[in-house]
Amino acid sequence: MALFSSLTPVFIAIICVLIGVILKKTNGEKEKHETKSKPVSRPWVDEDLKDGTDHPVEEEEVDEEWQGLDENVAHVPFFAERYSEAEMIKRSQAFYELLNKRRSVRFLSDEPVPREVIDNVIRTAGTSPSGAHTEPWTFVVVQDPDVKHKIREIVEEEEEINYKKRMGDKWVNDLKRLRTNWIKEYLDTAPYLILIFKQVYGRLPNGKKKTHYYNEISVSIACGILLAALQNAGLYTVTTTPLNCGPHLRALLRRPANEKLLLLLPVGYPKRDATVPVLTRKPLEDIMVVV
Ligand SMILES: Cc1cc2nc3c(=O)[nH]c(=O)nc-3n(C[C@H](O)[C@H](O)[C@H](O)COP(=O)(O)O)c2cc1C
Repeated sequence: MALFSSLTPVFIAIICVLIGVILKKTNGEKEKHETKSKPVSRPWVDEDLKDGTDHPVEEEEVDEEWQGLDENVAHVPFFAERYSEAEMIKRSQAFYELLNKRRSVRFLSDEPVPREVIDNVIRTAGTSPSGAHTEPWTFVVVQDPDVKHKIREIVEEEEEINYKKRMGDKWVNDLKRLRTNWIKEYLDTAPYLILIFKQVYGRLPNGKKKTHYYNEISVSIACGILLAALQNAGLYTVTTTPLNCGPHLRALLRRPANEKLLLLLPVGYPKRDATVPVLTRKPLEDIMVVV
């Protein structure tokens, strides 16, 4: 009896440890099960579009020590252009009014556009800021009708699968009011297609990979500037993200593996009978918070 009572605390301790182990195991399995059974569905995330930071192998190969950048770059005084306050208000209002007329136009005519304008809008996009001034963008301008048609074939084939299988009912329903589908006539008719690639890494003079910090954000800013420049020139486009077409289009356009397609912009003038959906934009008080 004395032996039994002296062993009781030991038994209790063993039972507690066993209960602990069992509970931990059950919780672990539950967590595993939960993450497995609830995969987050994000069909709009293009597999080919993942940022360079999503490719750990590629990142490991990046030269950590030397990026080949000139540390001794000169710093010079900067003289900024100044406007009077009245002039600032006038300019900012006029720029807003110009950009407020921008619409995504899905019916583009084949009327020619001067190449020089395209050169200028892309030059303008190239003024964008970029992470560590890496300028991680390539703008491919397609004017050849055969190449445009091949692009159309690739995009329409994938888009039909996207609409019928990949996107799901919710997404397809959300798009109904815009009356979009997988037929993209503008890929043939627009005088220019601009395909914007983000370079997920670059090359150093020694051949090693160069880190392109925040490449997707940098290229997205450049695209915003490009859209504004097109609007300023009186040209129209529709911003498109051809889902899962990246690798195929990259091969067609002979772009290297470090370039991933971000956007495809058909560029031209609206057709005479072009229509756009009636959409309103959020008022300032809904998009701006002043603290
Ligand atoms: C990231 C992004 C992707 C888009 N993808 C498509 C697309 O694949 N096809 C399309 O017809 N429009 C696309 N659009 C255009 C939007 O539908 C359009 O901007 C929106 O309806 C607002 O209309 P607005 O551009 O005329 O103001 C896209 C826009 C953005 C910003």
